[in-house]
Amino acid sequence: MRADRYGPCRGLSGFGRVAAHDRAGHPGGQWRHHLLSGFPCPPCRAGRHGGEALKNRTALVTGGAGGIGKAIGVALKRDGWDVVLTDLSDNLESAAAEIGADFRHGNVTDREAMRAMVESCDRLGALVNCAGIATLTPFLEMDLAVWQRIMEVNLNAPLHLSQLAARRMAELGGGAIVNITSISGLRAGALRTAYGTSKAALIHLTRQMALELAPLGIRCNGVAPGPVDTELTRGHYDEAARNEYLRAIPQDRFSSTEDIAEAVAFLCSDRAASITGQNLAVDGGYSSAGLGVPTAQGMYHQA
Ligand SMILES: NC(=O)c1ccc[n+]([C@@H]2O[C@H](COP(=O)([O-])OP(=O)(O)OC[C@H]3O[C@@H](n4cnc5c(N)ncnc54)[C@H](O)[C@@H]3O)[C@@H](O)[C@H]2O)c1
Repeated sequence: MRADRYGPCRGLSGFGRVAAHDRAGHPGGQWRHHLLSGFPCPPCRAGRHGGEALKNRTALVTGGAGGIGKAIGVALKRDGWDVVLTDLSDNLESAAAEIGADFRHGNVTDREAMRAMVESCDRLGALVNCAGIATLTPFLEMDLAVWQRIMEVNLNAPLHLSQLAARRMAELGGGAIVNITSISGLRAGALRTAYGTSKAALIHLTRQMALELAPLGIRCNGVAPGPVDTELTRGHYDEAARNEYLRAIPQDRFSSTEDIAEAVAFLCSDRAASITGQNLAVDGGYSSAGLGVPTAQGMYHQA
């Protein structure tokens, strides 16, 4: 089957300028070719991802100075990725140095800075949208400016970064995007009006992305942490809140940052070649359980 069988470009708006031929020799650029044909052409069928294998590629992790982001950097580095961490925190440089990663300071809501940053990542193969913010605010007191700020960081920024990254990945034959969502996007929790809604939307955005980017060899998944021991949770939960959570988690423990990172590393890897559009909860069973968790927890302690 010839790559040019599907004819000339019928015009796609919003994807920017495309070279006449991309590096793999697809007329009009690979992503455009796929979008028009809806079918991988011969050069793209060479690898499992519909293109080059993901080895020796760069993984970009936002929120990389944070508890979960840094752990994701460690796991990806171990798996052979060239890791770039980005964050606006002053701790970024030391986090990157600790794990032998590259780093770029930046705010994920700064469109131009993000454009330049993604451009600066050579051979981009994975993007992990991990930067996130939260407030605990009663619904009736939810201030619209705060709501918008949370949406901007937790939802709009992953959308924009994923667009930028997907265009680069498509040129290389594919890649993987993982959005760090939350169990707060699966089930309502007190005081989480903005945070929970932003994460619920991010879960659905992940499905949209998976559907539209599959023809380009790009897989998109979410990882939804339950409560994890990080600065974010230590600041938000006192002992009573912590115990309330533990009574709802079948495994009776908070997850570790490494628990989350392992799921992300798997979803970025070739081992997850046929997984896309999913939201994997890493939560000790929290989101699958209903009534009776304390009863079940107590059953084997009484003997
Ligand atoms: N910790 C948990 O229990 C938990 C549970 C569910 C989901 N999550 C999600 O996991 C992700 C990571 O959270 P964490 O627990 O590591 O928190 P964290 O506060 O340790 O890390 C978040 C990082 O994001 C960075 N960040 C925030 N706004 C940014 C911006 N505008 N531009 C660039 N960087 C920015 C912060 O500087 C910080 O380093 C978040 O998306 C969070 O919603 C965390």
